[in-house]
Amino acid sequence: TNRSKVTVIGSGNWGSVASKLIASNTLRLSNFHDEVRMWVYEETLPSGEKLTDVINQTNENVKYLPGIKLGKNVVADPDLENAVRDANMLVFVTPHQFMEGICKRIAGKIRADAEAISLVKGMEVKMEGPCMISTLISHELGINCSVLMGANIANEIAVEKFSEATVGYRQNREAAERWVHLFYTPYFIVTAVQDVEGVELCGTLKNVVAIAAGFVDGLEMGNNTKAAIMRLGLREMKAFSKLLFPSVKDSTFFESCGVADLITTCLGGRNRKVAEAYAKNGGKRSFDELEVEMLQGQKLQGVSTAREVYEVLSHRGWLELFPLFSTVHEISSGLLPPSAIVEYSEKSPRSF
Ligand code: NAD
Ligand code: 13P
Repeated sequence: TNRSKVTVIGSGNWGSVASKLIASNTLRLSNFHDEVRMWVYEETLPSGEKLTDVINQTNENVKYLPGIKLGKNVVADPDLENAVRDANMLVFVTPHQFMEGICKRIAGKIRADAEAISLVKGMEVKMEGPCMISTLISHELGINCSVLMGANIANEIAVEKFSEATVGYRQNREAAERWVHLFYTPYFIVTAVQDVEGVELCGTLKNVVAIAAGFVDGLEMGNNTKAAIMRLGLREMKAFSKLLFPSVKDSTFFESCGVADLITTCLGGRNRKVAEAYAKNGGKRSFDELEVEMLQGQKLQGVSTAREVYEVLSHRGWLELFPLFSTVHEISSGLLPPSAIVEYSEKSPRSF
């Protein structure tokens, strides 16, 4: 038959919820195979059992999404090559730092007609300049790649609370519609826009602003200050995206992937939470240490994204145009104290 086969590459907090969402739809819709294969980065639990075995026995990701049934048609697979071999719809959802290694491992081992979508928030910085994760996937695997970003704190979607998301696509409207169908539920409303770079940069850059918002919370500076930081951050998100990709549309910032994701992440995300703890400790405990202690294996994206953005800014001579982005990196790398977030972020005149 020509039913589409879906594999999800990644099984962290959002990866597990994405698998659950998708699995509810593949059961319901006749154009997809029921089974959803989910690649698991294998680990041994404190009980001595393998995470994959426990997921397949209990139908729950007991480490990254405890208490939520994924759907019986989700099959966990620790073998990456085996998991991708037969799929023609590949959903990438791992922390961004692992994506290059994953792409290299599966290059040449996937179906030639496969389509990809990235739920990964982040970028790679190469000698030639910044490389978005969807571009990395397209280049390494030679396939089309859309993105799905939005105001999507995974634990809330896991319990089916209403939210929205944005699919960004380059040219292939039909592929984008297939992705919308795969994800859409009454509690997860998906809209497609033809602006892959804009959507992906929104999802990536808001994690840097969330670190700034966490600093403000840790310093107990109040709601007005936090709103100011979010506004300055949104302005830098737009300016940075348009400098890198002049095709980025203003309207994208008003989609779920833009202002809505910025708000939810600055209110309730992991980046905010760990940055708050960093500021409360006066910067004396590193982000790496706090991440391990507070997130039980889940990964922060904002600190490394701030560093990656900083590299791009310094390489292009743009540091002064982006005081908030630069200051987040200077604080998180220990060069400035957390209290610098307000003084520095609004300090310099900008040309936008
Ligand atoms: P996570 O942070 O919850 O979990 C970390 C994952 O990384 C685990 O599955 C772990 O097994 C895996 N891992 C650890 N070491 C690895 C290695 N060496 N190679 C490959 N994998 C390894 O993951 P997540 O929340 O699913 O995040 C994935 C992406 O989704 C990120 O870019 C994140 O920003 C984005 N996202 C997350 C949320 C959310 O609420 N959690 C929402 C939207 C988008
Ligand atoms: P955090 O990683 O900061 O929790 O952000 C989650 C997210 O991307 C919500 O859309």
